[in-house]
Amino acid sequence: MAVKVGVVGVGWAGQQHIKAYSAREDVDLVGIAGLEAQTREQLAAEFGVAHSVARWEDLLEVDGLEAISVAVPTFLHAPIALAALERGLHVLCEKPIALNGDEAQQMVAAARSAGRVLDVAFNHRRRGDVQKLRGLIEDGRLGRPYYTKAWWLRRTGIPTLGSWFTQSSLAGGGPLVDIGVHVLDYALFLLGNPAVKSVSASTYDLLGTNGFGGSRESSKSGANGDAAFDVEDLATVFMRLEDGGTLLLEASWAMHRADGDQFGATLYGTEGGAEWYVDDYVPVGSLKLFGDKDGSATTQSFRADIGGGHPEVVADFVAAIRSGDWAGHDGRAAAQLARVVDAAYLSAAEEREISVS
Ligand SMILES: NC(=O)c1ccc[n+]([C@@H]2O[C@H](COP(=O)([O-])OP(=O)(O)OC[C@H]3O[C@@H](n4cnc5c(N)ncnc54)[C@H](O)[C@@H]3O)[C@@H](O)[C@H]2O)c1
Repeated sequence: MAVKVGVVGVGWAGQQHIKAYSAREDVDLVGIAGLEAQTREQLAAEFGVAHSVARWEDLLEVDGLEAISVAVPTFLHAPIALAALERGLHVLCEKPIALNGDEAQQMVAAARSAGRVLDVAFNHRRRGDVQKLRGLIEDGRLGRPYYTKAWWLRRTGIPTLGSWFTQSSLAGGGPLVDIGVHVLDYALFLLGNPAVKSVSASTYDLLGTNGFGGSRESSKSGANGDAAFDVEDLATVFMRLEDGGTLLLEASWAMHRADGDQFGATLYGTEGGAEWYVDDYVPVGSLKLFGDKDGSATTQSFRADIGGGHPEVVADFVAAIRSGDWAGHDGRAAAQLARVVDAAYLSAAEEREISVS
């Protein structure tokens, strides 16, 4: 029997979930919810979705619904996920898991007590170049990585000034909680998921508050042109890891730098180094390893597949539901990232290093 699924949110993220579910034989996408009636109706027609409703509350009423994706502004993640878990539904939530670590912890507790899957969509770690680099690290090509820099930086990529993204009560923060949480996820994944012991961070809002750096696209919901902006436009976070290593993370939506949108990581290990770099969302970034042969520098470039992205996130979610094996599918790892982000914002506010519990 196909799993009966609904998707809340019909923006960019929701559409990734809708497409991924629709492509699967073992899923019946029975409903979608979203406030943009025209987009929603077009999607319902294109993908043959029986129930198309505006409010998420009405989607939860659809008969026989077993699981939902939550792809809405971040302040709605916890309320929708908690309501769905209480009704016995499985939940696949977009990143970041919630506005903060406390909300995330409530979601984890609710998933555990309901005995349901709670997954969070971290699609970037599914990229083929990230998986390739992880494999090289597992093979020992870097020896012991001890210093990592990971970043996501844009010149003018504030996701629409005045939208929910630029209001802390709706988004939980700026680029740190938006793109930085992807960076935190893929960097820790590359390193084999060491725990973060402490963080020391600074945040800046010198450009966004002056109206510089708005994305050229203006599709985000809630954009009202009044340029409300009370989040950071740059976060820099120094982390001490339990394995003795150091991770330096940068996340920015707006900076005076080369045009475009770039993310990646540089890792330094005892036997080699690695550089992975993605320019303007190319599906496969450049990946190089640096080493030493008989006292001379070596550089090796690698090719990688495109990788899984949202379809793989959805595949894992459906597989977890169908198998009934929910270990590792309770949202705990994403909640821990939320705690690191909370600690970073506190560190920036209090100008001191903060331990992560
Ligand atoms: N994994 C990724 O790479 C990725 C990329 C972009 C966004 N996201 C995440 O996905 C989420 C949504 O981001 P987006 O860019 O799609 O935002 P968006 O503003 O484009 O879309 C949000 C959607 O939520 C809907 N919505 C808002 N309130 C609602 C309500 N009460 N009932 C039903 N629907 C409601 C809106 O109508 C809209 O369809 C965010 O948490 C964001 O962080 C993830």
